[in-house]
Amino acid sequence: MSVPNLPVDGRRLWDDLMALAAITEPGRPWTRRAFSPLFLEGRAYLRRRFEEAGLACRIDAAGNLIGRREGIDPARGAILVGSHSDTVPDGGRFDGPAGVIAGLEIARVLDERGIRLAHALEVVDYLAEEPSPYGLSCIGSRGMAGALGADHLAMTNEASEALAMGLERVGGSAPRLGEARRKDVAAAFELHIEQGPVLEAERTDVGLVTAIAGILRLEIGFLGAADHAGTTPFTHRRDASLAAAGTILAVRREAERCSALGRGHFVATTGLVTIEPNAANVVPRSARIVVDVRYEDASLASSFAAALDRATAEAAEGARVERTFSTLSDSSPSQCDPVLRALLQDAAGRLGLSSRAMASGAGHDTAFLTRIAPACMVFVPCREGRSHTPEEWAEPEAIAAGAAVLLEAIVAFDRSAATPEGGF
Ligand code: HGY
Ligand code: MN
Ligand code: MN
Repeated sequence: MSVPNLPVDGRRLWDDLMALAAITEPGRPWTRRAFSPLFLEGRAYLRRRFEEAGLACRIDAAGNLIGRREGIDPARGAILVGSHSDTVPDGGRFDGPAGVIAGLEIARVLDERGIRLAHALEVVDYLAEEPSPYGLSCIGSRGMAGALGADHLAMTNEASEALAMGLERVGGSAPRLGEARRKDVAAAFELHIEQGPVLEAERTDVGLVTAIAGILRLEIGFLGAADHAGTTPFTHRRDASLAAAGTILAVRREAERCSALGRGHFVATTGLVTIEPNAANVVPRSARIVVDVRYEDASLASSFAAALDRATAEAAEGARVERTFSTLSDSSPSQCDPVLRALLQDAAGRLGLSSRAMASGAGHDTAFLTRIAPACMVFVPCREGRSHTPEEWAEPEAIAAGAAVLLEAIVAFDRSAATPEGGF
């Protein structure tokens, strides 16, 4: 990467990123699951750094941590810049936190340079972007978009605690959730590692995201009978793991068929499989599977779900077990704002950085922000495109370059945006 003289302090940004990463389950770096005590410890660190940067901090009713600096013209509404600080289990240090800390660095540089924006600036750590213990992802950004309903709040974790209670634990409030719905966002910006191999392979400095894939999550349950592994004849078994095995193979077969149709980005993954009682000498009584589907074409996702419904019914019949099949969540594909993307592209050009437009197969909070405001994302390269693994890595200079692009684009937007009719 040719790193020009960037208008951000890459060292300071990196140090914050590594300090946050150190707040992890010690035995399984890097793990800081949403709603956990470690997550709250990470939030306390962020809040301290936000306040040191002169930002007024609050937790909104949807559990988002927001650091705000007022703008010159209250009629302009707010510019949001942020991402998420929670991780997947055994995840990386950059997926999410790079975007939160980049937002913090942007707020610090604006202050140090005496640049007052017309808009308010809000640095945001969106609550629980990753699939949470309640089974739902993007909880905070859904709340901002008014897309967190009673059915979501009733979803429970392994301790049978409802999400509504979990929200309270992190400072949110289910009864006041309506207050988290935003109508005053002028534009939303997010930096994120690409979580794919394209930018590194092409030696391109930043990606300008065009669209974010839809995410459909299907939950399949099988219920048979626990029996003695040593004495029960095959003819007497009602083995839930047999139906689960057939399902895993069907997911890959149907997904490859759909992907080959050339109807946009399409992949599906069986990443969550639980077998009970999960003992070597017991015929499995039950199995729970969650399938993660990424798509651009909603009708293709529907046909995939229908094919999997049929295949799992057959697998259940073959294993003589009962089956449940339901949709856990479905966030439709979203388009990033082309005007903001042009500002990102111009900013990269001014900084001497190469850029290219690209879609995102990964989900992001920005997908929900697109429902309430013009929103955009800038991707930075990560090593071998790997993410959701401890090997996840991004170069300090790459993250600093992405933050600099966001900084320049935010200032350009602030100076270009006409006051909307009637203001906010
Ligand atoms: O799963 C995703 O796409 C995101 O990284 N949470
Ligand atoms: Mn992720
Ligand atoms: Mn992420």
